[in-house]
Formats: sequence, structure tokens, C-alpha cells
Amino acid sequence: MSTSLAGRIALVTGGSRGIGAETARLLGAAGARVFVNYREKARRAQRVVDEIARAGGAASAVRADLTDRAEVAAMTGEIRDLCGRLDLLVLNASGGMERDVPPDYALRLNRDAQVSLVDAAMPLLPPSARIVFVTSHQAHFHGRRPTYDEYEPVAASKRAGEDALRDRIPDLAARGIGLVVVSGDMIEGTITPTLLERARPGIIDARRAEAGSLPTVSEFAAEIASAATAPLETGHTAYVGGEDYLVDRS
Ligand SMILES: NC(=O)c1ccc[n+]([C@@H]2O[C@H](COP(=O)([O-])OP(=O)(O)OC[C@H]3O[C@@H](n4cnc5c(N)ncnc54)[C@H](OP(=O)(O)O)[C@@H]3O)[C@@H](O)[C@H]2O)c1
Repeated sequence: MSTSLAGRIALVTGGSRGIGAETARLLGAAGARVFVNYREKARRAQRVVDEIARAGGAASAVRADLTDRAEVAAMTGEIRDLCGRLDLLVLNASGGMERDVPPDYALRLNRDAQVSLVDAAMPLLPPSARIVFVTSHQAHFHGRRPTYDEYEPVAASKRAGEDALRDRIPDLAARGIGLVVVSGDMIEGTITPTLLERARPGIIDARRAEAGSLPTVSEFAAEIASAATAPLETGHTAYVGGEDYLVDRS
């Protein structure tokens, strides 16, 4: 990353593993004081916090199921009490393919909880704060490009979440707060493609062959961390991988 985040306060949702964990590490390495949100994997979140601290940064783990408003309020309250503000909100946590969740869970997490968190964080977001929404090409291009049946509820709900957040852009802009979206192709070595692969053996190789290559967690997280400070217009979408999606992105 080119810009130092020294003195900035960041919250990364779903920071206990995968892309969120790597994003948290990068923000910590750039000098931000990072809150690593997790839902249930406390030890994993603490490992990320310890790694950031060992690298010379500052971080804490903050538990909250984002679909639970009381837990979200407790989390933002903790950030307020410790730091008084939040400069960067990375909306990375996502789900909907878990076993035994209600049929509306994907929409509750990927749309409603994203907007609720923005609302809960609003009193902490100063002018110049930035919100980064993390999504997949399968979701971002939902309705314009086909997706896998197994991923359809996630894709539709994440697209609905992106649309709901974009609807807030004028209100956010009036407060000086920017919102940018980072969308990625299937990411190498992550859980969602692995779950899809179980249902449809061969899809990862097929997508890799179609796209030429798939982005790594490091590459995707680097773009997310960079979107935290890059001079981007509010509403901008940064794309990682999947050139074939971008040919007709209008
Ligand atoms: N994987 C890909 O191929 C890919 C491609 C493009 C874009 N993306 C996007 O990248 C982001 C991260 O993906 P990933 O593959 O790293 O995800 P992941 O491995 O499934 O991790 C999900 C994270 O979200 C947290 N989480 C899940 N439900 C939550 C809830 N109700 N409240 C709070 N936290 C919750 C999990 O916490 P716990 O572990 O504590 O449960 C975990 O830290 C997502 O927005 C995804 O759409 C992924």
C-alpha cells in the first residue's frame, strides 16, 4: 500500500479468516488500529490480532453476529469507547451457504445486516471516512451473467446489499463519507469455491481455465486495503480478476 494509515481506525467484518483476515493484516501493517470482527471463530480472530501486533501494529478482536442488532450495537459501542471514531469500515463478512440456516438468512446477512451496520456505525464515521463493500463478480454481475444454482441466493442477496448501500451514497456523501465496492472473481484457496466444488466437481479448474488465472487471497486483499485510501470517487467499483466479466460491464 502506498498511503500510511497511521492514526486511522478500521473495522473489518469477517476478519477471522480468508480475505477479511488478510485485509486486516494489511491495514494493520499500514498503521491502522484494526478491529477484527468475527461471529464465532474467536481463536482465529485472536490469531489475526496477534499477528498484527507481532508485526508492530495494533488490533483487537470484536465479536458480533452482524444479523443481531444488539450485538452490532455492542460492537460499535466498544469501538466508540476505545477510539471514539471509525475512519474505515470494510464490509467483508458474507454468508448464506452454511448448513441449517433459514431461507432468508442470505438476504438478512448480505443485505440487511450490511445496511444496519452502516447505520450503527454512522455516529462514529467522521467526514472523510470510507466504507468498502466487498463482493464477488458472481454477485456484482447478478442478473447480467449466469451464476451457479448453489450460489444463486448468495449472489442475489449480495447484489441486493450492494444496491441498498449504493442507495445510501447521497446521504453518505452529504456527510463527507465515501463508499467504494471491490469485486473479485473466484479466489484461489477459499471456502466458497471449495463448497461449490463439492456440489459441482471441476468448477474451480473450469473457471481458472476460462479466466486464464484466478486471483489469490493476497491479491484480492491488497486491492481491498488499497481501496481504503486510494483517491476513488464515491460509488467506484474496483475489479480484481475475471477480465471476461469486464468486457461488457456497462
Ligand atoms: N471466496 C471467494 O472466492 C470470493 C470471491 C469474490 C469475493 N469474495 C468476497 O470476499 C468476502 C470474504 O469472503 P471469504 O471467502 O474470505 O469468506 P469466508 O471464508 O466464508 O469468511 C467469512 C467471514 O465472515 C464471517 N461471518 C460469517 N457470517 C457472519 C455473521 N453473521 N456475522 C459476522 N461475521 C460473519 C466469518 O466469521 P466466523 O469465521 O467467525 O464465522 C468469516 O470471518 C465476501 O464478501 C465474499 O463475497 C469472495
